[in-house]
Amino acid sequence: MVDVILGLQWGDEGKGKIVDYFAPNYDIIARFQGGPNAGHTLYVEGKKMVLHQIPSGIFHQNTINIIGNGVVLDPVTLKRECDAVAAHGIDVRKNLFISDRTNLIVPTHRALDKASELAKGESKIGSTLKGIGPAYMDKTGRNALRVGDMLNKTFTTQYIKLRLKHQKLLDNFHFIEDISAWEEEFFEALEFLKTLNVINCEYFINNQIKAGKKVLAEGAQGSMLDIDFGTFPFVTSSNTISAGVCTGLGVSPKQINEVMGVTKAYCTRVGGGPFPSELEDATGEELRKIGNEFGATTGRPRRCGWIDLVALRYACMINGVTQVIMTKADVLDAFQELQVCTAYNINGKKTEEVPYQMSGVKIDPVLQSLAGWNQDTTGMKKAEALPATMQEYIRFINSYIGAPVKYVSNGPGREQIVHL
Ligand code: GDP
Ligand code: IMO
Ligand code: MG
Repeated sequence: MVDVILGLQWGDEGKGKIVDYFAPNYDIIARFQGGPNAGHTLYVEGKKMVLHQIPSGIFHQNTINIIGNGVVLDPVTLKRECDAVAAHGIDVRKNLFISDRTNLIVPTHRALDKASELAKGESKIGSTLKGIGPAYMDKTGRNALRVGDMLNKTFTTQYIKLRLKHQKLLDNFHFIEDISAWEEEFFEALEFLKTLNVINCEYFINNQIKAGKKVLAEGAQGSMLDIDFGTFPFVTSSNTISAGVCTGLGVSPKQINEVMGVTKAYCTRVGGGPFPSELEDATGEELRKIGNEFGATTGRPRRCGWIDLVALRYACMINGVTQVIMTKADVLDAFQELQVCTAYNINGKKTEEVPYQMSGVKIDPVLQSLAGWNQDTTGMKKAEALPATMQEYIRFINSYIGAPVKYVSNGPGREQIVHL
């Protein structure tokens, strides 16, 4: 049986905290897509940790953590993270397992990411520059190096061939950067990677499921950054939605049970691209300040706005969401009045559907006002204690999106969560 936790917006919904919270109920936590573009924040013994490559169950000693075939893996980031995790007494050789089919991010992927973004100029995606797009391009282009390959005698030859191909592309971009230091780090990190558990993951995970073990698949990014269903081309390069779990881990759709979708009580986006309910005013600034909305991977200020129910309902539909977890509700504590986006006005036409093309068109949000609760909710533990106006806000969202909000997170701490 596989449950899923994934983001319903443009990323940074608080997936790391939520996975860490639910981890004790599972035997295995598995990442199925994305790579070091992810930044999942959790608190371990009061200390902040940001995970990029390693699943958010790593701090639970008896939980198996898997990096699945759908992930793109940067060995340098992984090594750095393993060292940080070891400082907390966690032995990754015991509880971290990596699929031999996982694709590797090589230094020239990072250079290509940078070159491609520079070439796009004003219309750049706002990539995290971690090499994600180029690495997935090599996967679908059937050129990639995979984790299993590093044990082959031919690995260096394969690497040089790929590097040459990349060099030609970089020359086309007229992009010059000395990557020798990156390469040195990369080969050092590969030696480290060889000491970890590399497995034939689809057999491993299916055998575990057969033995009755419970798996939690951890999404990275968010549904609106999905390569097929997101705000293309301002998206990431993988399928971030629940369908990605099957191809990213090698499990059948029949194994998928609960799909838990995480949304903020408002909305943020980092990087370029459409964001209909964005607030480019003092209210947006206030959300950013109270919510401490700065990227966990790049430190960039996140764009802020009201919750977009059009996009949220769409995300629930394409993911088959069975329950919603609403995070950062406490960030709205200070507001007298809240707004929610219930439709889009595109070229004078009102719609409640997400159109195929959201960039290059002017989308005006149709906003509805709702009362704020205007009180401190961070210490609340029980559903009954939540202010009536917050319960009304949740009821409104439930009825619009057609999926129930089952948990409200009211602070970054592991224990700051209310079950409704
Ligand atoms: P992820 O990428 O989805 O894991 O989310 P990030 O870690 O990038 O960003 C979420 C941020 O919000 C982190 O700094 C979390 O510590 C913080 N956070 C998570 N849940 C809550 C919450 O309910 N309230 C507040 N105030 N902060 C939260
Ligand atoms: P987590 O897992 C927020 C955004 C980037 C950029 C676009 C493409 O922490 O929620 P990429 O590096 O993938 O080529 O960038 O996607 N992006 C994220 N935004 N949270 C993330 O991950 C993101 N990962 C990528 O800002 O707009
Ligand atoms: Mg994040």
